[in-house]
Amino acid sequence: MKKQSEFPEIIQGGMGIGVSDWRLAKAVSTAGQMGVVSGTALDSVVARRFQLGDPGGNMRRALSHFPWPEMARRILDAYFIPGGKAPDKPFKLVPRAAVQMKRATMELMIVANFIEVFLAKEGHSGVVGINYLEKVQLPTLPSIFGAILAGVDAVLMGAGIPLAIPGILDGLSRWEPMALKLHVENNPEHIPFSHRFDPADFREGEAFPLNRPKFLAIVSSDIVAKTMIRKASGTVDGFVVENHTAGGHNAPPRRAPKASASLPAYGPKDAPNIDRIRGLGKPFWLAGGYASAAKLKAALAEGASGVQIGTVFAYCTESGILPEIREAVVERLLAGGVDTQTDFQASPTGYPFKLIDLNSTMASVEGARCRRRVCDLGYLQQFVCDGSDGIIYRCPGEPVESYRRKGGDAGDTEGKMCLCNGLLATIGLGQIRGEGREVPILTAGEDFSAVQAMVTTLGREYSARDVIDHILGERSCRRSSMDSNASPCIPFQPRRSEADDGALLRVQA
Ligand SMILES: Cc1cc2nc3c(=O)[nH]c(=O)nc-3n(C[C@H](O)[C@H](O)[C@H](O)COP(=O)(O)O)c2cc1C
Repeated sequence: MKKQSEFPEIIQGGMGIGVSDWRLAKAVSTAGQMGVVSGTALDSVVARRFQLGDPGGNMRRALSHFPWPEMARRILDAYFIPGGKAPDKPFKLVPRAAVQMKRATMELMIVANFIEVFLAKEGHSGVVGINYLEKVQLPTLPSIFGAILAGVDAVLMGAGIPLAIPGILDGLSRWEPMALKLHVENNPEHIPFSHRFDPADFREGEAFPLNRPKFLAIVSSDIVAKTMIRKASGTVDGFVVENHTAGGHNAPPRRAPKASASLPAYGPKDAPNIDRIRGLGKPFWLAGGYASAAKLKAALAEGASGVQIGTVFAYCTESGILPEIREAVVERLLAGGVDTQTDFQASPTGYPFKLIDLNSTMASVEGARCRRRVCDLGYLQQFVCDGSDGIIYRCPGEPVESYRRKGGDAGDTEGKMCLCNGLLATIGLGQIRGEGREVPILTAGEDFSAVQAMVTTLGREYSARDVIDHILGERSCRRSSMDSNASPCIPFQPRRSEADDGALLRVQA
């Protein structure tokens, strides 16, 4: 029996850092499907947009709707540069997350997540979700709280087993203090390290009712899905079932490589068992190469509520990827094809990561690997017990010597890339250093057939709405099942139209 879902058939997958920003999510949700903003590193994304002068004033407009004006003012004072910073000046860094985080660090996380969700939801009644990575733990509580303040409809989380999140959604939406247990290595005494967060500490004035977002766990096997249902701290409302061809991080192959094989590889055992997923009785969406009408039909026939789609949205006009990078990839596609490889070394998380090698254009995988190592963002840092009750923060992507000084094995640093700095560069927010700009890093799914179909029928520029029309055909303008007030089909609005957004509502001092 198919489990009915209140969410639409198409989920636009969360794509970090900032690839699925508020513009893309808004375009998708105004078209009646689920737009998902990436919640990864939003504190840096928003702080850097402010430092670029917030052209068009969208950030400030969102901030003027933030419930607590004094906090909003503090963020503006800390990061906003009227007219933007000088182009050759580095971005001011946001404070690094730590177990004992400064109030200002958490305030930025709350506000940044509020802004992104507010803008994605502004002016329509479509469904908007936010995507987080389970491996990025310290920003999680303040970030989710900021998204809840802005009325996010769904939280989606993968890259780990997010057992704690459903209960956290319950608690934060009731203004309760929450603790997130941290994954700490080298902790034989099982010291319960956790990050604590109390929404009441941040409130200016009375509490008000908050909506508990739905929770969709991103899984790649029925085993993880079943574990989520059995052991999660609260209700899991559904699953995104992602296969190993999807963009971004993937689950590791289930079979370890044979001694003779130099690299791990995916095999038939890695295909998720859809019968078992269906048997769990929750709505689910299939992901990884599902961006076509035929694939959607096949997914629905298997009992899915729909599909989650990434790559083809990453190359549409509303995507956060720099236009020149999108164009380079589309050129490559038209010239013979894009080669997406699973890199088993690149990500400091240890998870396989899909990479496009744009050699001779903007960034080559080797270029990104050979860059002078700097670790100044730390989203993927690992926590290691210092032998008593302290934590050592380290990242295999940081300079080898400092990783070793922190007790790490130099072997673990081999082939690692700084995804934090590289992915920010891909969306035009790369740091400026003495030796130049940070090099972009590009991820995508293996299946470019939908991008190919779009550019051959519509030309190099296509919109999120075009993607939805391509997949839903004449059903595209129908209302989604959940959204009783769904806006009618809204014509495509070009991505770079911020300056026309009307009067700016500034935050009052
Ligand atoms: C550029 C890019 C970035 C992605 N980043 C994330 C991410 O931050 N979190 C996540 O859960 N999935 C991420 N994904 C996976 C997508 O959300 C989606 O599940 C996947 O791309 C679906 O497969 P498809 O690309 O073949 O359509 C990313 C995918 C792409 C293409």
